[in-house]
Amino acid sequence: MRIGILTSGGDCPGLNAVIRGAVLNGIKSHDFSFVGFRDGWRGVKEGDIFELPRHQVRGIAKQGGTILGTSRTNPFDGENGGPERIQATLDRLGVDAVIAIGGEGTLAGAKRLTDAGLKIVGVPKTIDNDLDATDYTFGFDTANQIAVEAIDRLRTTGESHHRCMVAEVMGRDVGWIALHAGMASGAHAILIPEVPTSMEQIFGWVREAHDRGRAPLVVVSEGFVPEGADAAFSSRGVDSFGRPRLGGIGEVLAPLIEENTGIETRATVLGHIQRGGVPTAFDRVLATRLGMAAVESVAARQWGTMVSLHGTQIHRVPLRAALDNLKRVPAERYAEARILFG
Ligand code: F6P
Repeated sequence: MRIGILTSGGDCPGLNAVIRGAVLNGIKSHDFSFVGFRDGWRGVKEGDIFELPRHQVRGIAKQGGTILGTSRTNPFDGENGGPERIQATLDRLGVDAVIAIGGEGTLAGAKRLTDAGLKIVGVPKTIDNDLDATDYTFGFDTANQIAVEAIDRLRTTGESHHRCMVAEVMGRDVGWIALHAGMASGAHAILIPEVPTSMEQIFGWVREAHDRGRAPLVVVSEGFVPEGADAAFSSRGVDSFGRPRLGGIGEVLAPLIEENTGIETRATVLGHIQRGGVPTAFDRVLATRLGMAAVESVAARQWGTMVSLHGTQIHRVPLRAALDNLKRVPAERYAEARILFG
């Protein structure tokens, strides 16, 4: 079998480890051959591919980004999009099956295409850790580690100046990165999309920490919605799937905190730093195992499924299981962290 691999949506540390795991297992266990699609669904629609022999994946498990390139191209848009045209392109290229590595948008597209008869299996990825039906997505551990290292640095400068520091992390509509990075770095307040919080409460936590002689640290998720606001802060339009581009809430909160508490406050948006660089060992192992398992899904012709982590085991679940629900931070996890605020 000749298998095409694509990486789509925001990049994520560990993508290359998935590609390597898939190619090595496919060649060694099944005698499959592989091609890579350049830049996600764009490469599929335009038939833009390159061969992926074994030497192409040599040593890439530790590399950040993706050797295939990625994009947020929608597979249903444009004159080359849609199931019939994509199938025709795959037939022309002699590609028998596709491994799609992506987040919610990518897997939703893959599901629609498999419903129309295309031979696709999925591998979940996202630093946001928001995909249901898998305990963790690779990339999350790395993003979290990067956020903690950055926040530790913000703390030392904050303490020197007796300032309140606001660190904004990614995560889209869920607060996993904020919760974990905030807990790991000892934040005095963690603000997540799942829990609307009043400005008075935030000022209260900041004052409490300051009154104890601490430099208050607020970790806010980009999708946080302050109590009374209609939606998360977004000033950069929407992406190709129509979702608002988030980011900037930290800069909104900082002047309000300063004005209301009298404590000098600075905001830092960690942004795409969280997606860059080498994956952690945990993410490399998880990504490698998922790539290997995706090839087994192809060999078993389990189209419309994705591989996922349950405890320590890799399982296979229908794509729709990942799409039915966003995996949000449960109330009890936030309540546990909240005990430590202020
Ligand atoms: O989904 C991953 C993610 O990094 C989100 O946390 C963030 O909101 C978004 O992608 C940023 O997208 P882009 O790279 O297109 O700016």
